[in-house]
Amino acid sequence: MSKLPRKFFEPLAIGAPAPFREPPVALERMIHFFPPQVEKMRAKVPDMAKQVDVLLGNLEDAIPIDAKEAARAGFIEVARNVDFGATGLWTRVNCLNSPWFLDDVTEIVAAVGDRLDVLMLPKVEGPWDIHYTDQLLAQLEAKHGVTKPIMIHAILETALGVENVSEIAAASPRMHGMSLGPADLAASRRMKTTRVGGGHPFYGVLEDTREDGAARTLFQQDLWHYTVARMVDACVANDLKAFYGPFGDFADDAACEAQFRNAFLLGCVGAWSLHPKQIATAKKVFSPDVNEVRFALRILEAMPDGSGAVMIDGKMQDDATWKQAKVMVDLARLVAAKDPEMAAAYGL
Ligand code: GLV
Ligand code: MG
Repeated sequence: MSKLPRKFFEPLAIGAPAPFREPPVALERMIHFFPPQVEKMRAKVPDMAKQVDVLLGNLEDAIPIDAKEAARAGFIEVARNVDFGATGLWTRVNCLNSPWFLDDVTEIVAAVGDRLDVLMLPKVEGPWDIHYTDQLLAQLEAKHGVTKPIMIHAILETALGVENVSEIAAASPRMHGMSLGPADLAASRRMKTTRVGGGHPFYGVLEDTREDGAARTLFQQDLWHYTVARMVDACVANDLKAFYGPFGDFADDAACEAQFRNAFLLGCVGAWSLHPKQIATAKKVFSPDVNEVRFALRILEAMPDGSGAVMIDGKMQDDATWKQAKVMVDLARLVAAKDPEMAAAYGL
């Protein structure tokens, strides 16, 4: 038994803002993490905000236990004092069963609820986690006069979460999207790895025995293909956005780029950047390719209303390629609005 559609869109507390009917349009190629307890990092935020699409104050894993409260206070200070312009302001709170979650949410919404765009919720296991957070946010929004609904972004990083991914995506109109959390997911699934995302040299397909007796090649496979694809389907079916999460080997830029690109091609719109150099990688990967955009523009031009079929450079175009071209060009327009150089390159 699920709610009536009409009820689904009612605020969950009297005085809370109504949930969004349409997800806000935003360019979110990278979610850049910073540790808000570190003063030097807080000082960099105004400049960082100009370079990234989303800036996220991390309160959860990687923040030492004795710095949890300082991280929360540091995030509130930054949210109050910095002008973020069109850059998204997010926080990753501690998980629901931790000793910090309740204070993270209550203190942040009380102090800067009207400045926070998205709350990232780790270790989501099922729709019940979203329902609880949804209700709590509505109560706090009402109490503190917040006028714009704070959205929820779930991290997909437990086996149970993956089992429930569709129900999580459909749990609330407050859902923004999801990120794959490969580090926690590997632990939860009992995968035999010690990495934060990326591939593994032993996970592959061995080519058949060769007639010439030459050594056989092991073709490495993407450990995350299944989960990313499942997450993308659950998200897009519910009008949410899917993201690849962290890539932990900061020394291997090429592997990071390859992992981001696989996610992009499968339908993700962005990834996390944990190191400043991953910002440029995400920008490069998650902005559509110039030649692809120019070709997509030709498809839209040749088929103004998307109907029928035409040939361009010997390739058949129809309704389905027109829709792909539209996805590409819509994204390129978002990038172009932010970046005049890319606008010129796309010819927009
Ligand atoms: C992210 O939180 C992860 O566990 O990979
Ligand atoms: Mg995690």
